[in-house]
Amino acid sequence: MSNPSFNLLKGKRGIIFGALNEQSIAWKVAERAHEEGATFTLTNAPIALRMGEINNLAEKCNAQVIPADATSLEDLENLFSQSMEILGGKIDFVLHSIGMSPNVRKGKHYTDTNYDFFHKTLDISALSFHKTMQTALKLDALNEWGSVVALSYIAAQRVFPDYNDMADAKSLLESIGRSFGYQLGVSKKVRVNTISQSPTMTTAGSGVKGFDGFISYADEMSPLGNAGAIDCANYCITMFSDLTKYVTMQNLFHDGGFSNTGVSQKVIDRFNG
Ligand SMILES: NC(=O)c1ccc[n+]([C@@H]2O[C@H](COP(=O)([O-])OP(=O)(O)OC[C@H]3O[C@@H](n4cnc5c(N)ncnc54)[C@H](O)[C@@H]3O)[C@@H](O)[C@H]2O)c1
Repeated sequence: MSNPSFNLLKGKRGIIFGALNEQSIAWKVAERAHEEGATFTLTNAPIALRMGEINNLAEKCNAQVIPADATSLEDLENLFSQSMEILGGKIDFVLHSIGMSPNVRKGKHYTDTNYDFFHKTLDISALSFHKTMQTALKLDALNEWGSVVALSYIAAQRVFPDYNDMADAKSLLESIGRSFGYQLGVSKKVRVNTISQSPTMTTAGSGVKGFDGFISYADEMSPLGNAGAIDCANYCITMFSDLTKYVTMQNLFHDGGFSNTGVSQKVIDRFNG
């Protein structure tokens, strides 16, 4: 079923980070943003672009792809300057949909962390959000009433042991959202929020140990069930639209009610012999 479109982003220009393949949340956001009338550039780390899958998305959305390692200030400067040139003006929305932990990838336990890896986790998954906004501010690249969104996970507040150092990265990411949200609000009337999404079957998601069990547990705990990638994309679209102009500095749960549920009947039933 195709999504209804409401022209919510008509005339808006954006930058979408993190579309790796069709499963990526950013991929769905790009498809929906296109349907809602936005023009945007797509970006990802040069290594991720090698697979070439993003070109199918770019063609479908009539978007150009600009390689950028989100930890490199030089790459980010080039990304914002080029995007403004290609799109013909300042940027109205930015999606930060980036996460990577070498410790998770290499199966290092949280109590046996490799600190070089840990730095990388924080740099890629959290500081890149600060770098993105700092670059945009320095280049005066954001339009008034623009909207910046990053994707997060509830491991920022509660312990999910196998989420490892990504939990610390998400806490930092959400904190940066608040701190920079204040600054961009005052100076540019731009809002900044993080969306805390249900576990979702993507490349980044399935890298977490025991992800299948984890995703089913969250589904049974959530009164509405897990929120899928398309629904996450729809939520991002509303956050980029003018319907949410005064929502800023928030961590917004998009999780089917998981975050406010102590236990569900379905989970209790599993323990009642
Ligand atoms: N999948 C889940 O269960 C889930 C749940 C909550 C939040 N999230 C968050 O959603 C976001 C998107 O993840 P996804 O699940 O769509 O997986 P994904 O693997 O499709 O996306 C992660 C992206 O990060 C990019 N990336 C990695 N290093 C980078 C770098 N140095 N520079 C630029 N880009 C880089 C990857 O190339 C990839 O496109 C992440 O922040 C993730 O933590 C995911």
